[in-house]
Amino acid sequence: MPRNIDQLRAQYNSSASDKRNRGPSGPRGGGPGVGGASGKPKDAGKTLSRLVSYAKGYTGRIIAVLVCMVLSTVTSLIGGYMLAPVINRLTAAVAPETAEKLSLLEQKVGAYVGVLSNGIFGEDSVLNYISSAMIILGAVYLVGVATTYVQSRLMLSVSQGIIERIRNDLFEKLQRLPVRYFDGHPTGEIMSRFTNDIDNIDVMINNSLTSLISGAVTLIGTLVFMLTTSWILTLIVIAFFPIFAFGGAKIAGLSRKYYVSQQAALGAVNGYMEETVTGQKVIKVFNHEDECVEEFGLLNDDMRDKQFKAQFWGGVVGPIMGNTSQITLAVTIGVGGILMLNGLLGAGGLTVFSQYARQFSMPINQISQQMATVFAALAGAERVFEVMDTDPETADREGAVDLADMKGYVVLDNVTFGYVPGKTVLKHISLYAKPGQKIAFVGSTGAGKTTVTNLLNRFYDIEEGSITIDGVDIRDIKREQLRKNIAMVLQDTHLFTGTVMENIRYGRLDATDDEVIEAAKTASAHSFIMRLSDGYNTMLEGDGANLSQGQRQLLNIARAALSKAPILVLDEATSSVDTRTERHIEHGMDRLMKNRTTFVIAHRLSTVRNSNAIMVLEAGEIIERGSHEELLEMKGRYYELYTGKKELD
Ligand SMILES: Nc1ncnc2c1ncn2[C@@H]1O[C@H](COP(=O)(O)OP(=O)(O)OP(=O)(O)O)[C@@H](O)[C@H]1O
Ligand SMILES: [Mg+2]
Repeated sequence: MPRNIDQLRAQYNSSASDKRNRGPSGPRGGGPGVGGASGKPKDAGKTLSRLVSYAKGYTGRIIAVLVCMVLSTVTSLIGGYMLAPVINRLTAAVAPETAEKLSLLEQKVGAYVGVLSNGIFGEDSVLNYISSAMIILGAVYLVGVATTYVQSRLMLSVSQGIIERIRNDLFEKLQRLPVRYFDGHPTGEIMSRFTNDIDNIDVMINNSLTSLISGAVTLIGTLVFMLTTSWILTLIVIAFFPIFAFGGAKIAGLSRKYYVSQQAALGAVNGYMEETVTGQKVIKVFNHEDECVEEFGLLNDDMRDKQFKAQFWGGVVGPIMGNTSQITLAVTIGVGGILMLNGLLGAGGLTVFSQYARQFSMPINQISQQMATVFAALAGAERVFEVMDTDPETADREGAVDLADMKGYVVLDNVTFGYVPGKTVLKHISLYAKPGQKIAFVGSTGAGKTTVTNLLNRFYDIEEGSITIDGVDIRDIKREQLRKNIAMVLQDTHLFTGTVMENIRYGRLDATDDEVIEAAKTASAHSFIMRLSDGYNTMLEGDGANLSQGQRQLLNIARAALSKAPILVLDEATSSVDTRTERHIEHGMDRLMKNRTTFVIAHRLSTVRNSNAIMVLEAGEIIERGSHEELLEMKGRYYELYTGKKELD
């Protein structure tokens, strides 16, 4: 029975809304809410000042950007004004009496163009006058183009520099976070810090800040030009303004609201997609294709609905504002005409004024629209900084030792541990292991076997009891040294993108090719590697997707075999390997284990038979211990596991 839309929305949003990519709606920085992540920053001021701190070293460039921005905006305003003297001169040519009826600014600018025209052409004819105005216009626009070019280049170099620093800091931090952090944060959520959130910051620095600043400069500049052209008309435009501002804000609010729900719907669709792609095999195995199509249809429907609303209200702001500003225009021209008749304004002045009146509301809309992007980016930045502020793995204790030539005497004394407070996973674990010994852990799924090994290399720190190596508490050994001395084959294998050779060499970076091949032979991996298309140079991708599960394990074992660590941990290292190959590996490893302390975890009891001691874990407690023979004689849990007697009862 497929789930309904409410269930789907709830399920896929909680897990997915965060890790989604950018919105579908066109260019970066386009509308409100673009950038996927929504939400308001908790402390915008603090976040902003922290972002500013990333701009350190760019002060010079930022000042240059600001200067260029002001210059380019001012040039475009001046350029627009040059129409006035041209029109006035033309009007005067037809009706000479109008030449006297100009506003102060029109007179001044007109006189200046006249002087220039005389200077260049020696004669102030109408044609020369217009040519001079064109020359000024050309020069002004040239400056505008040049400053815009310089500004956008510099701004990009600043923003990309800042983003690079943030990305680096975040990545570096991720490498220092404790394993515990990753328990509580799904991969997708962490990835979205790198993609969504950083992208949003990028959009903000590049587009929004530029728009905000140029919007503000344009607003002030336009106001100054308007006031100097005609203060009466300016008052009229300003009087109309609140109506538009209010209407615009209302529509913008609506569109923002729908953008947020569009992003949520998009998150759900993407989350569903991702899950069906990665789970494709399971879907096929259980014949769930039709349900999937049906469920996807529901989510897709929902998304179309939300997208329609979001894009409708997003797209309607511009035209509505455009049309209503025509009303201002009409009134302006009407009143302007009266002023003209009274000799307070020229035709040129009225023309450019109506231009200004029309564009007056633009920067304000621009600013109000960009605010949404800015808030989304600041909220994103907060999430990025939140990761950066997470406590890293605790620093080594004062006076932590190197323990350079570790022997491998491991003692667990009364260790009690839980991943989450109040839920103990291991209870009073005590054991002793010395070099050359092989200690095995067996027991049911979830008994706590992996947990013991997680404590050895301090993925997690214990709260009760102690773990010592060579008599030193592991918390007093430098963490790097500790991990260098414990080679582990983890229960979940992992291979990186790279050649087979590189993947094995991960175990010890200074190993020679011969040593790598030797390790591969020890792990019984050599023969299958030689059968690969490029042998040791075969590229592995996607966690070794082109290898069998067992082959992946062999490479992970080879990696550990390469390490010279005195302590070796094999957690279900050969669970997917056939028993014959496993015996081969055992043979190879025997030599390797000679002077090392080895911990082996296995469900397949034949793997652990020849261990010096076998610990039987049950619900976090060691309930039996001894050699294979001793345990069989006890006729306890191990006996049950080994002979399968109890299960058959
Ligand atoms: N990261 C974790 N956070 C919280 N609880 C965990 C975590 N990892 C394991 N546990 C819990 O700790 C208990 C022991 O898990 P552990 O992985 O040690 O079992 P195991 O004996 O290795 O089992 P298996 O044979 O399946 O590998 C389980 O009940 C599990 O739910
Ligand atoms: Mg395990």
